[in-house]
Amino acid sequence: MTTVPQQEEKKPLLDQFKETRQRSLELVKTLEKDDFVVQTAFYMSPPKWHLGHISWIYEAILSKIDKNYEFYSKEFSEYLNSYYQQFGVPHDKAKRGIFSRPTVDQIFEYFNTVNQRVTNFIQENIIDSETSRLITMGFHHECQHQELLVYDLQHLLADAYRPVQKNSPPTPTQVKNQPVKIEGGVYTMGYNGSAYCYDIELPEHKVYLNDYTIDSLPVTNGEYLKFIEDGGYEDFKYWLSDGWEKVKENKWTAPMYWEKVDGEWMTHDFIGKRKINPKGPVCHVSFYEAAAYCKWAGKRLPTEAEWEKAACWNNEKQTKTIFPWGNDSPTKERANLLESYIWNATEVGSYPQGASQYGCHQMIGDVWEWTSSEYVGYPGFQTGFDEYNDKWFTNQKVLRGGSFGTPSMSIRGSYRNFFRLDERWLFSGFRCAKDQ
Ligand SMILES: [Fe+2]
Repeated sequence: MTTVPQQEEKKPLLDQFKETRQRSLELVKTLEKDDFVVQTAFYMSPPKWHLGHISWIYEAILSKIDKNYEFYSKEFSEYLNSYYQQFGVPHDKAKRGIFSRPTVDQIFEYFNTVNQRVTNFIQENIIDSETSRLITMGFHHECQHQELLVYDLQHLLADAYRPVQKNSPPTPTQVKNQPVKIEGGVYTMGYNGSAYCYDIELPEHKVYLNDYTIDSLPVTNGEYLKFIEDGGYEDFKYWLSDGWEKVKENKWTAPMYWEKVDGEWMTHDFIGKRKINPKGPVCHVSFYEAAAYCKWAGKRLPTEAEWEKAACWNNEKQTKTIFPWGNDSPTKERANLLESYIWNATEVGSYPQGASQYGCHQMIGDVWEWTSSEYVGYPGFQTGFDEYNDKWFTNQKVLRGGSFGTPSMSIRGSYRNFFRLDERWLFSGFRCAKDQ
């Protein structure tokens, strides 16, 4: 295993905890009380539920560390347990919005009580490496829900949401999409740093790649529009059979949130209702749509190993880095992540400083990128927390790179996100690859 420097000096556990909790509160600070209770779709969750659930997971973690740990409330645990059978029978996800109790005030009280309990635990105990790993997992879990909360807020409020912080996007540089040639051979994929990563990023292992090309830019709205205008959604020949069924069943004619008004494609998101920006990366497409576009374009999706090598391999130095630009943490100059507070994907060419050694742009941030890889454990996988990641090893595809909703502390080149093939409420796009 190659060792690389840690991407940042590790902050004390308590500081990381406080920062993470603060970010959750900031996301909901401007909401009206009524906003906290509403669930707009079966795959969304009410903000109230997220706040409670991210607190509950610390209780679940503390109960693993201390066998005598007593949960705050049996009723809260039942409502806030997402899918962990080991902690009882969870409530139906699709019905999280039908509960008026616990109330919003009670959830905030619970949030603060858990803060106190975790703070006391960290201050009063000697934290060994396994305990530290479990508590840190709680931070990263909270980051995941912060991003899910952003998806939900867009669906619930769009431009009626008033973020505490909002910045303008950077001025993009002129870039041209080109296929980047990457040599095949044995590539060692997985996380090789010394900070936190999820169990599914380990162990590092060797894979064999053929020579391939991968596009320097993600597919843009303008490019995707050509697929639509060429009848892409009307011809079965571009689609996987299951995907074609979804097109017909859901009457898909464009990415989620797109709407044709007076012959013009519009979208409605945090920025407001407006014309599609042809230079922005296409967002809110399912795996099926990404795969269909690739077939139409005479290309294919990259595997996650191909994506990771294009993002993190430094061919000159023969080393792998944590991020496309090296091992230093993300900054506002390198990637559009949650703390950029732009609340949208930025135009291609907006982050030349974040390009990979191979010259691929915006691999971190802006939009998650679908890969063709099945979401399964790596060879030698060992669970880091039962039911967290491992029970989803079927019927999902891997996405890489993070989005404008991903907190920066939680992203890295080896990070594996996963969603079902027809899901498109996430900030999902893609880039194309091709055999050489
Ligand atoms: Fe969760």
